[in-house]
This record gives sequence, structure tokens and C-alpha cells, in this order.
Amino acid sequence: MQAKNRQWVLAARPDGLVKTTDFAWAEGPVPEPGPGEFLVRVHYLSLAPVMRRYMIDGAGIEKPLAFGDVMHGRGAGMVVKSNHPDFAVGDAVHGPMGWQDYKVLDGTRLTFKVRQRVAPLHTALGCLGITGFTAYIGLFDLCEPKPGQTVLVSGAAGGVGSIVGPLAKIAGCRVIGIAGGPEKCARLTSQLGYDAAIDYRNSDVAAEIAKAAPEGINIYFDNVGGPVTDAALGHLADKARVAVCGQISQYLATGELYGIRNFGQVLKKHARIEGFFVYLHADRFEEAETRMSQWVADGRLPILVDIKDGLEQMPAALRGLYLGENIGKQVVRVAPDPW
Ligand SMILES: NC(=O)c1ccc[n+]([C@@H]2O[C@H](COP(=O)([O-])OP(=O)(O)OC[C@H]3O[C@@H](n4cnc5c(N)ncnc54)[C@H](OP(=O)(O)O)[C@@H]3O)[C@@H](O)[C@H]2O)c1
Repeated sequence: MQAKNRQWVLAARPDGLVKTTDFAWAEGPVPEPGPGEFLVRVHYLSLAPVMRRYMIDGAGIEKPLAFGDVMHGRGAGMVVKSNHPDFAVGDAVHGPMGWQDYKVLDGTRLTFKVRQRVAPLHTALGCLGITGFTAYIGLFDLCEPKPGQTVLVSGAAGGVGSIVGPLAKIAGCRVIGIAGGPEKCARLTSQLGYDAAIDYRNSDVAAEIAKAAPEGINIYFDNVGGPVTDAALGHLADKARVAVCGQISQYLATGELYGIRNFGQVLKKHARIEGFFVYLHADRFEEAETRMSQWVADGRLPILVDIKDGLEQMPAALRGLYLGENIGKQVVRVAPDPW
């Protein structure tokens, strides 16, 4: 039987939380690569909070979508046909696949060969892909952790946060994670090596940070913004560093965004606060992949992944990110792992 290309296309712009009806299912023929192009069979697709913005305006990263366009998103897969000198049949790649089974690429636009074979291919979307590079660059390049320092991570059980914690442990730090709910908090300490966990949904975050870090926080890796970040800024140690990676608590806000009250602490504690966008640090990806592959192989970097099965699951999986349903990096398996 002829293979077909199943796709999710944009049907409506999200109003509040993403709904499954914001997407429509489509099917078409598998595309053919032209000169200088190659065809990828997608095995895994990534889910990321930024995707809701793709549905609205492209987030300044992707081309804004029209209704009927295939939803943007990164994926990992295998080259199955190639007219490209640098990408051969059998190469594993991660890149801008879109929510579909097959994608023709030309090797540009943040498409990378997967060089490591130490872990399943889904890690090319997790710790050994852009999510992991985000954790690596935000922690090591922006915050320069030193042994014995205290690192606080918000969104600690999510894709990025579940990698920052173990990396900070590798750097010899004491690590405190903030996540929603007792199950996630238990996983932080039992599976990811966090020294302490704070359940922001069921506790006074400021009081818990003060208890867990009486000397203050040397590094704060922020994935969520809002009141959690306010509480963190209230407990900075002298010369603290803050990496602003994400602000998920504010992504669905309508009207006024949360106003940080403790910003004065940045001055008082001589702190440095820096935002970053991972795609602008592509020259650091190779080092990040090499070092983190070694740490995965050595068993020092645990893999926490949340896999849903079937392309059909994509809309629900995206919605789940905003509801805190994922533990670890959320991916959808579109086809069986190739190795
Ligand atoms: N700067 C960059 O280049 C870059 C690159 C990648 C990602 N990011 C950002 O990094 C952050 C993490 O991304 P990710 O892909 O790893 O997503 P993720 O953390 O795996 O998924 C979202 C998680 O956010 C938490 N969350 C949802 N609503 C929240 C709220 N109102 N307050 C606090 N936490 C909330 C939920 O965990 P709980 O159950 O714990 O609430 C949920 O599981 C996002 O803000 C994303 O935009 C930035």
C-alpha cells in the first residue's frame, strides 16, 4: 500500500488554553525531495510551550501560520531518500519537521545530524537536542556554576528543568527544584538528584526557599516567571546570577501581566539577570551534545521523558503542557524508535 503523509494543520487561533479543535487532521501523499533536498521519516515530535504562539503569530521564530498550514514544531527522524551531498539515507536528524509523518528538508534552518547513539532517538528532542542545549547554555554559559553553590530551578520537572537540575549536580552544586504537586516533587529528588523540592501549588514558596536555602540562592534558572520568580528574587545571595529562560506562567495571561515586586533585590544583591534565546547560541550546540552524550553514557545525566504514542495525540499533548500534565520532556512517538 502507498505510504501517506498524515498531518495536523491549523484550524483556529487559540483563545486561552489550546483546544484540540484548534487543529484539523489532513492526509496527503508523501512528498518527493527535489535537487539538494532529502526526505525524513519522522519518528518523534517535540512539544514546547512556545507552540501556542506559533498558532498566533509565529513567535518571531517561525513563519506565521495560515489556516490549513501544517503546524510548526521540531522532530527527530531518519533520512529515507536524499539528493543532498551531506545527508545520506540512514542518517538520523532533528529539525523543523512540523506535525506530520514526513518532511522534505534542505539541511538549513536549524537542522542537525544526530551524532550520538548513546540513547533512544527521542533524546534528540530532549537532553541531547535543543531542550538540553537550552539547559546547558542557560546554566553553564550564563550562570557559571561553581562547586558548593546553591541553584534554584523553577519548572524543575519539565523538559528544560529536568535537565538543569542534573547538570547543576554535575557542576557540584546543591540544587533545589520548584514544581507543581507532590508526585513531581518526589521525582525531582528520587530520579533527578535534586537535593530539595518545593511544591509551588501547595506551599508558601518564599518560606520554603528560605528554609531550603538559608544562605540564599547563588543561581536561579527561571522557566516560569510570575509569583514563583518573585519569591526566588526575594532570596538571592550576593552576586547571584539569574538566567531567564521562560515565563510559562504568563503565556496564557490576558490583560495585565504579573508585576515583580522583588526586582529591587537585583540591585541590593549585586545580581546579574540575563535572558537568552537558545537559537542564537547555535555555535555552542556541538559542545553541549558531546559533553551531555558522555554524561548520559556514564549514567550521570538521567533521562526523564514523557512519551505519548501516535501522531493523533499532538493537540492533547500540547494542551497538557499548560496544565502541567507532563513529567520531563514531552514528546510524541510517531513511528517506532529506529535503533
Ligand atoms: N529561552 C529559550 O531559548 C527557551 C528554549 C526552550 C524553552 N524555553 C522556555 O522554557 C520553559 C520550559 O519549557 P519546556 O519546553 O521545558 O516546557 P515544560 O517545562 O516541559 O512544560 C511546561 C511545564 O510548565 C509548568 N507550568 C505550566 N503552567 C505553569 C504556571 N502557571 N506556573 C508555573 N509553572 C507552570 C508545568 O509544570 P508544573 O506542573 O510544575 O506546573 C508544565 O509541566 C518554558 O517557559 C519555555 O517557553 C525557552
